[in-house]
Amino acid sequence: MLSGKRILLIVTGGIAAFKCHDLIRRLRERGAEVRCVMTEAATRFVTPLSLQTLSEDKVYADMFSLTDESEMGHIELSREADLLVVAPATADILAKMAAGLADDLASTVLLATDKAVLVAPAMNVRMWAHPATQANVMTLGGRGVLFVGPNEGPMACNEYGPGRMSEPLEIVAAVEGYFTGKLAPPDPRQALPQPPEAISLPHRPLLGRRALVTSGPTREAIDPVRYISNHSSGRQGHAIAAALAALGADVTLVSGPVTQPDPAGVRLVKVESADQMLGACKAALPVDVAVCAAAVADWKVAKTVNAKLKKTPGAPPPAISLVANPDILATLAAGGADRPALVVGFAAETEDVIANAVAKRQRKGCDWIVANDVSPGTGTFGGERNTVHLVTADGVDSWPTQTKDAVAARLAARIAQHLVAG
Ligand SMILES: Cc1cc2nc3c(=O)[nH]c(=O)nc-3n(C[C@H](O)[C@H](O)[C@H](O)COP(=O)(O)O)c2cc1C
Repeated sequence: MLSGKRILLIVTGGIAAFKCHDLIRRLRERGAEVRCVMTEAATRFVTPLSLQTLSEDKVYADMFSLTDESEMGHIELSREADLLVVAPATADILAKMAAGLADDLASTVLLATDKAVLVAPAMNVRMWAHPATQANVMTLGGRGVLFVGPNEGPMACNEYGPGRMSEPLEIVAAVEGYFTGKLAPPDPRQALPQPPEAISLPHRPLLGRRALVTSGPTREAIDPVRYISNHSSGRQGHAIAAALAALGADVTLVSGPVTQPDPAGVRLVKVESADQMLGACKAALPVDVAVCAAAVADWKVAKTVNAKLKKTPGAPPPAISLVANPDILATLAAGGADRPALVVGFAAETEDVIANAVAKRQRKGCDWIVANDVSPGTGTFGGERNTVHLVTADGVDSWPTQTKDAVAARLAARIAQHLVAG
């Protein structure tokens, strides 16, 4: 898709600079030519040699290099590009771009260019949330600068929130979006992202805490070869288990049949039916937090048979009668002495998402409900992204649509905050 497109990649001095290696590789895989400019600060994070090797081109960093200026002046750098991509874009470069400063090669090229500019901001959540940065984003959006990200998630500085640079493939998608006319600059009135939620956490805040996560569908046997199940992919539950483990928790993941890769660093217990899932959950107790993300079948077949049901010509199809499955969330929430300090349920709804989730929280006796809309049009089942509402005793917090990994990271951060803050 990017065959022959010339990308001038401006790398600035943020911790996410290491991701530009992958970005260069991904852009070149798609046929783009990549030439790099680095700020002085960027050279502290990644070496010009690594970018030169990956881009197979000279890397430019010094504005006053006689050789560079005679071979490829700062104006020429922008002239020879189809698109300028700033990744990672520091708070500093956004401020310089907004103010029109030109005190090094990167900012001078950005001021001198008449080409489109796509920026991938990457910074600490408070730097991103700062009114100065937000005003700069608005200014730049108003001038037609294109944005990708930032994403929300745990940060290198033990904080959680928006500010992480988009992943290389997301930046590639934005580059492709630009060339296919699908990427538009943000509306300056809406350029402000959702109010950022910053959560400060100590390092590995869940060390010494135990967590139980259920994930995936359950399978309720009809006979030895047939079953009743649902479309749950286990993606969200597995991501939550991984996110809790990343914060230091000792995690048991009880999963129904899924094709997700096993998350690293968690104890995985594979089950099929709701009865088995309940048994595995009880065996994992006591835990500090239980997150019930599995889509447990509400019903199971009243009487399973040990031999395959046969189709007899002329005979009516067999009637299958159902009985209720155990309610794993309600059981864990009732719990007695073993009740986890925090019990979190999921509510997959297709209508009245929030109202149903609020009622479910009451009915099940759990502490929090993560409600999501799984109507066919949303692509939630099996999809990459999720739009969720966190329902607690304090009210409803609606999160922006984000990847399931980002939902997991945010939920894990909230859990850590709750457990650590007491
Ligand atoms: C370890 C470390 C990590 C940093 N990470 C970031 C970052 O992710 N985002 C950012 O805006 N600034 C970050 N900074 C600050 C910038 O490096 C600093 O503002 C610098 O002047 C940016 O220069 P540049 O915009 O010319 O590259 C970091 C600084 C240090 C020491």
